[in-house]
Amino acid sequence: MKKTNVMLMTVATAFVLTGCLDGGTPDAGEKITYSKTSAEVYEQSCKKCHGASGEGVKEKKGPALNDRQAEEMELDLYDVKNGGLNQSSGTEHDVMEHNMKKLIEKGYDYDVKDMAKFLEKSFYKKPE
Ligand code: HEC
Repeated sequence: MKKTNVMLMTVATAFVLTGCLDGGTPDAGEKITYSKTSAEVYEQSCKKCHGASGEGVKEKKGPALNDRQAEEMELDLYDVKNGGLNQSSGTEHDVMEHNMKKLIEKGYDYDVKDMAKFLEKSFYKKPE
């Protein structure tokens, strides 16, 4: 049991270190299919708190998601989805982790890499 845990952590860490984040849980070989595209998920379930252009929504306390490029976004999305699993970045997203669990239960799951690319392509503003 202990050995398995150590193994899983090692695998998870390796994924993080190589930037090879597939967005799913690192459970052995389980292929996840997503019923919605990232664009659909964003439109239907993220927009109301993060803004039509990822600019953030003050009333909902949703932070902007248009200020990061895909690589960084990917890590933040991964954190939000996997809770404490990604300990390398040391971020706290308790509210969003809770939201994400609910959204996944409702079928708004997405591929982290694909969502990060979608956000960059659609909203990313280069610093002037
Ligand atoms: C009910 C409102 C709400 C919805 C819906 C929502 N979020 Fe959030 N989100 C928040 C709040 C509030 C925070 C800031 C607090 C926190 O991080 O826990 C946040 C934080 C985040 C963060 C971390 C922000 C950062 O700066 O790193 C990411 C990434 C994120 N949300 C992505 C999403 C995505 C993707 C969706 C759609 C699948 C989504 N959120 C839907 C309210 C929401």
